[in-house]
Amino acid sequence: MRVIREIPLLRSVLPATEICLVPTMGNLHHGHLALVKEARLHAECVAVSIFVNRLQFGPHEDFDKYPRTFSEDVDKLEAAGVDVLFAPDETSLYPARQTVVVTPPPFADDLEGRFRPGFFHGVATVVLKLFNCVHPTVAIFGKKDYQQLLVIQSMVEQLNVPISIVGSEIVRDSDGLALSSRNTYLSKEERTEAPALYAVLRKAARRIIDNPGDVLPTCEQASQELTHRGWRCDYIEARRRSDLGLPEREDSNLVLLGAARLGNTRLIDNIEFNTAPSAAL
Ligand code: PAJ
Repeated sequence: MRVIREIPLLRSVLPATEICLVPTMGNLHHGHLALVKEARLHAECVAVSIFVNRLQFGPHEDFDKYPRTFSEDVDKLEAAGVDVLFAPDETSLYPARQTVVVTPPPFADDLEGRFRPGFFHGVATVVLKLFNCVHPTVAIFGKKDYQQLLVIQSMVEQLNVPISIVGSEIVRDSDGLALSSRNTYLSKEERTEAPALYAVLRKAARRIIDNPGDVLPTCEQASQELTHRGWRCDYIEARRRSDLGLPEREDSNLVLLGAARLGNTRLIDNIEFNTAPSAAL
């Protein structure tokens, strides 16, 4: 595996073959590594980027304390057979203040965007920059960050970026908690409670499948359940899977998205489901 920190050097080592890129912020876990495995199915050359992107963190968010575990990450990527690791430092990706930014589509102001203003501007901008450095033919994103995946899909469609975007399934711990770098912030007690977010989403999705007319009260009830358990719930919302619009009666492909804080840690999760009769979760 070649570890490259400088953009000009990256250009000289990348092969002329098809490249699949997995963008990350490091502190790699099995969720990231599943994307790397998927990448191998799409191109001869697998590239991973590690860059903790200041532009997507709000002023009171965890940029400074975001877990950075570079040498462990290198070992994991080496073992996973990655060809190129692009890990630019801040001054090489942002040599000057970034005044040109990507404006994400309006749905980016909803859900995560409501609680993290500017977040998707930062994500879309850095992802486009990474695409322009690595020139992949395919890029993989996790469905764990469902809205992020749709923002990137819209960006490449509307800006005619010649890259196929692939969404990869959520990887969970055996108790259902979606793997996340932020799980390392959880205390022992919080880690025991954390799977409740997914459990509540599953229960709510089941209830919507059984009573498709009850979307709003079901989401409200799910949010209250988390509050009673000691969480601070930002949102639990059922949306159309294709564009995160509010579901109409005829929409059956839905996703239930949730974000809630446990102590100082903010967790997000989602579950895709279908309201067609007898749908399974
Ligand atoms: P990061 O949080 O490091 O995640 C990198 C990729 O891994 C994202 O596509 C994310 O959806 C995926 N991922 C994380 N946990 C996962 C899980 N449990 N199962 C499946 N996929 C999972 O997302 C970012 O970084 C950044 O916003 C980035 C896109 C790199 C731009 O800075």
